[in-house]
Parts: sequence; C-alpha cells; structure tokens
Amino acid sequence: MIDSLMDKIVSLCKRRGFIFQGSEIYGGLANTWDYGPYGVELKNNLKKAWWKACVYERNDIFGMDTAILMNPKVWQASGHAENFFDLKSDCKICKKRFKTLDLKNKGICPECAGELTESRPFNLMFKTHQGPVEDASNTIYMRPETAQGIFVNFLNILDSKHPKLPFGLAQIGKSSRNEITPGNFTFRTREFEQMEIEYFCRPLDSDKIYASWVEERFNWYLNLGVKKENLRKREHAKDELAHYAKACTDLEYNFPFGWSELEGIANRADFDLKQHTKFSGKELVYFDDQKKEKFYPYIIEPSGGVDRTVLAVLVDAYYEEMVKEDMRVVLKLNKELAPTKVAVLPLLRNRPEIVELAKKIAQDLKKSIITAYDDTGAIGKLYRRQDEVGTLYCVTVDVQTLEDKQVTVRSRDTMAQERISVDKLKEYLTKQLD
Ligand code: GAP
Repeated sequence: MIDSLMDKIVSLCKRRGFIFQGSEIYGGLANTWDYGPYGVELKNNLKKAWWKACVYERNDIFGMDTAILMNPKVWQASGHAENFFDLKSDCKICKKRFKTLDLKNKGICPECAGELTESRPFNLMFKTHQGPVEDASNTIYMRPETAQGIFVNFLNILDSKHPKLPFGLAQIGKSSRNEITPGNFTFRTREFEQMEIEYFCRPLDSDKIYASWVEERFNWYLNLGVKKENLRKREHAKDELAHYAKACTDLEYNFPFGWSELEGIANRADFDLKQHTKFSGKELVYFDDQKKEKFYPYIIEPSGGVDRTVLAVLVDAYYEEMVKEDMRVVLKLNKELAPTKVAVLPLLRNRPEIVELAKKIAQDLKKSIITAYDDTGAIGKLYRRQDEVGTLYCVTVDVQTLEDKQVTVRSRDTMAQERISVDKLKEYLTKQLD
C-alpha cells in the first residue's frame, strides 16, 4: 500500500512529463533523473517561491550564484576533504557497495548473503581534473554544498553591499555527492539542487535567530501547501551533528517511505569564517563601527533541497477520487506551484469555428497567465489530463459560445462549472489566481 503510492507518483511523473529516468534510451544511469516540461515548471515555481520569501520579501538577505568548481583549498578549509566520509563495505560476491551505518548484520551482504569487506571510509566528493592533464596537481571537486561559495565571498559582500548584521546571503544551485546508497526516486541522488541561506549574526544573538529560522522555514512549507500532519521538526542529538554545527534541526516530511529530511537548519557558529581565514590568510571578520571592534559573526544556515521538496509537494498533492464510476487522479498543487494555471479546450475539435475561437482565447490569456491549449482528445480525456498535471482551471469553448460569447470555466478542485463571458474571462481568472 505504502510502496504503491510511490509507484503511482513515479508513474504519473513519467506518463505526464514531470520526471524521466536519466539517459533512459541507453538503459539509464542509476539514480539520475531528468525533469520534463511539467517538472521543470514545477521546479522553477518552487525556486521562485523560495526566492520571493527569502530574498525579495526581506530587506536583510541578498542573492548570489557562485561557481560549482572551487579552489581545492576550500574543501580543506571547510573540512570536507577530511570529514566528508561515509563508511562503506563491499560485497565480495555481488560487488555491491553498502553504507556501514545501514547494515543490520555488519559482515553479511543484505542482497546475496555474501561476505562483506571491512568497512572503509569513502569520500563523498566527486573528483575531476581541471585542464588537459590528469594528475594529482590539478584534481578538483564538484561542490558538495552551495554554502562554501557564499562563505568565500564574505569580504566581497561586505565591500560591495556594506550590510549591517544580521544579514543573509541566499543561493540556489546544483551540488553533487557520490552517495553510496542513493534511491527513493529523486529523494537521494548524486546530483541535486540546494536552496541555502547563510545568515550572519552576532554570536550572542545566534541561539534566538536559529530558533526563529526553524519556525520561519517550517511555516514556509505550510504556506506552500504541505499538510501540517506530514511535516515535523527533529532536533539533532549532539553525536549526530555535522563537524561544523553547534546545533541543527531537520524539517522532515512524511514520505511514503517514512519520515525523512527536507531541510536542515544549522547553527554553524564561527566555524566557516575562522577556517577560511586560516586557510586563505584573509581575515573574514566583521567590523562593528560603533564598538570599534572586529569579530567573527556566527552563521545560521537553513539548507533545503529543491528535488526533495518537489517530491514532497507531489506526494502531498496526489489525490485519487471516485467521480461517478470513474477514478479521477488529481494533483492539488497550490496556485503558485501548479505548472499550468489554465487550459483552454474546444468541446468539438472537428468544428473549425470552435477550434479557432479556443485558440484565440488561449493566445490572449497566454500574455498574462500560464495557459495551455489542447484539442487532442474528447473533453473527458482532456479534463483528466489537466487534472493529473494540476491545472487549476479548464476553459471550455462549445457551440453555445459561438452564440452567447460565454465559456465554461471548470475548477480543478471542486469540478464546479461556471459560465463566464469571454470579455470578462481574463479578469475573472486573474482574480481567482491572485
Ligand atoms: N550546507 C549544509 C548542507 O549541505 P545537508 O543536510 O547535507 O546540509 C541540505 O543538505 C539539504 O540538501 C538536505 O536537507 C536535502 O534537502 C538536500 N540534499 C542533501 N543531499 C541530497 C541528496 N543526495 N539528494 C537530494 N537532496 C539532497
């Protein structure tokens, strides 16, 4: 039952063009996923919602977009070269690799019962080489988190924006980790997108600011439409904390495979600025004009995953409803997230006057509302298709429209239908979508 919900989501994603297996025609590349026409819109809408709440609606946070490839010294300073390891064991028979932490029986392969090797540390950073020669002197890494791109620009931001504490820097971008056990569809992959804020504050204020970010980020997911019963906070025990963190709370979602992390909010204290000062020789400190003193600010870091949040909103929005004798599958995504807001559908696709008018109405709406046009099936089928991709309103043009200049507007959630004059349609839909 639980698995089947996940299977239904994966199947809907492929069937309707949200998410496809990566490199599928070549048999795929394990745990890589490509976002299709609806998936990319959903993902972009999610990122826009985050950027709006975390950058545009605030006076104290600025955006950034930093390089994926960084000077390898960054990873020595950040601790990733030394600490970003998982312990793994390999099966001597089937050659599969397992995270030691996940193994119930340490010496035995859970797949084929073969003997496992001793557990060995495995660095999760992807390695590559910069330039034409492949040797140790030009080894570089794909960034495993976007955060470091922000820390190394701390002085540039102070010098260009002159912000006063507390202030934050926000970034959305790709990160890569050579995960030992990726899986659960897009939940754990080796290439994924993060939405991170590094919020710089006075050390004495950091506990309070950390607690307020936990609340703020929890409420952001609720405003996104995630059901409250599917969201919870989980504070890390001391022995669970990452090497840089003084405290951390995960926001977890109740996925079909169990409660799992969507976002972590950490108090990174002054670890990063001190480390980069040590390794770069540049003093990453803040100067307080009034007190005439310099110090290392503390950093509060809300760090969420784009792909995990997309998966959570898909799971949360998925409904199956019996309508008369038929099963209706509908994605009840909120207005901000729905990939398409309106679809215009001609009732009879073999009547040129109806088709022409429907196309004209769609074209006109497209200027201000994300609108689709579809005449590739009977109306029942077209409604079902739009329900499955979460389109909020369907506008149907029928024979009567030619006479009374009115169209039928059907709401995705209630399926209630209203006749609206073509003249007033844009105004009506704009109001509904506001
Ligand atoms: N800078 C802090 C940091 O990277 P993290 O808890 O390792 O912290 C933050 O990652 C978020 O990034 C996670 O909450 C998750 O949403 C996302 N994330 C991390 N690893 C991921 C993976 N392998 N696949 C998909 N998303 C991942």
